[in-house]
Amino acid sequence: MTEKTIHFSYKEYTSVSELEPADAALLQSAREVTRLAYAPYSHFHVGAAARLTSGAIVKGTNQENASYPVTICAERILLGNAAMQYPGEGIDALAISYNSEGENDHPISPCGMCRQALLEYEGRTDHPIRLILSGQEGRIWVIPAASLLLPFAFTRTELETSTGK
Ligand code: THU
Repeated sequence: MTEKTIHFSYKEYTSVSELEPADAALLQSAREVTRLAYAPYSHFHVGAAARLTSGAIVKGTNQENASYPVTICAERILLGNAAMQYPGEGIDALAISYNSEGENDHPISPCGMCRQALLEYEGRTDHPIRLILSGQEGRIWVIPAASLLLPFAFTRTELETSTGK
C-alpha cells in the first residue's frame, strides 16, 4: 500500500487594493455584473468576469428557470460567451462574485458542474484559468488553475483511451 497526497497552494488577500490592477478591475467587474443575474428563485446573484489571453473581457451571470434544474450558473454562461466570441482563446483569469440577501463578505467557489466545465475549457485551450474568488467585499482567494479544484477529474483523455482514438 502506498499512501498518496494531493495538495495545492492558493493565495488569500485581505482586500482588492492588494491585487494587481488588472485583477482588481476584473473582480470589480464580477461584483458589478451580478446586477444582470436572473435569480428570482434563489435571490443569489452570481457574476463572473474573465480576461482572455488577448486582454478581451467576457462576462456571465446565473440564469435561473421555473424548472429549477434548467438553471445555468454564471461560470458556464461565461464559458459559452467566450467560446462563441473568441473561439480557441485561453482564459488568463476568471473572477467570481455574488450578491445575496445574506452576508456578501466571503468568497464562493464554483459548483461541481462548473468545475468540470472549467476543466474542459482549460484542456481545449491548453491554458490554465486562474480563479479570483470573492464576495462584494472582504477576503479574496486566488487559485492558480481551475483544475486544482477537481482532482481525479474525468477528462477527454479517458474517452480517447477507451475508444482508441
Ligand atoms: N450558482 C452559480 O451561478 N455559480 C456557482 O458556482 C454556484 C451557484 C447559481 C446557481 C443558482 O442560480 C444560484 O447560484 C443558487 O444556487
